[in-house]
Amino acid sequence: MQLEFVKPTVSYIDTMQAIVTPYVEDGTILYRSNDEIANTIRSYTVAKADGVVVGFAALHIYSTKLAEVRMLVVANAYQKQGIGYKIVAQLLQEAKQLGLQRVLTLTYSETLFRKLGFKVIEKIEIPDHKVWEDCIKCKRFPECKEIALVIDL
Ligand SMILES: CC(C)(COP(=O)(O)OP(=O)(O)OC[C@H]1O[C@@H](n2cnc3c(N)ncnc32)[C@H](O)[C@@H]1OP(=O)(O)O)[C@@H](O)C(=O)NCCC(=O)NCCS
Repeated sequence: MQLEFVKPTVSYIDTMQAIVTPYVEDGTILYRSNDEIANTIRSYTVAKADGVVVGFAALHIYSTKLAEVRMLVVANAYQKQGIGYKIVAQLLQEAKQLGLQRVLTLTYSETLFRKLGFKVIEKIEIPDHKVWEDCIKCKRFPECKEIALVIDL
């Protein structure tokens, strides 16, 4: 399998929505509209396997120091082949190139992030703007079982 990473154009959004929809419906991932994704399209990285879009995630910048890996998803048929790990590794490289110091994530996939060097933190340490921008919109708020992890670059 030939895996490559590309920065998507807005023409990818329908395919991205098709991949993420099952996980939005079960509440694992927060719904984002096409316009919201388009507004932030530059934050996304898409993984293609043999030319087919198989997953993506976004590196969302909060401040001069902090960014978040969010909306990580790999299409069901392509999971458990290391693609999720490689997408996050790619975003960490991007964060370093941008001069960021710390990357945060909120996830149910603790092991994947731990393998990349992320460490678990208390949810109280999550920046307020994350909670008030995103968490508040989540079906599972405030009984969220996601784990907060960070990595210092
Ligand atoms: C979470 C998610 C993105 C992981 O993507 P993935 O491509 O399956 O991730 P990886 O393959 O890198 O790692 C997943 C597991 O497969 C294992 N794996 C990796 N390569 C493998 C291979 N060649 N053979 C067998 N297993 C393998 C990994 O060890 C890992 O196991 P672990 O969970 O016990 O650590 C994917 O499951 C997904 O889209 N889930 C739904 C949405 C979601 O939960 N997103 C996360 C919110 S932040």
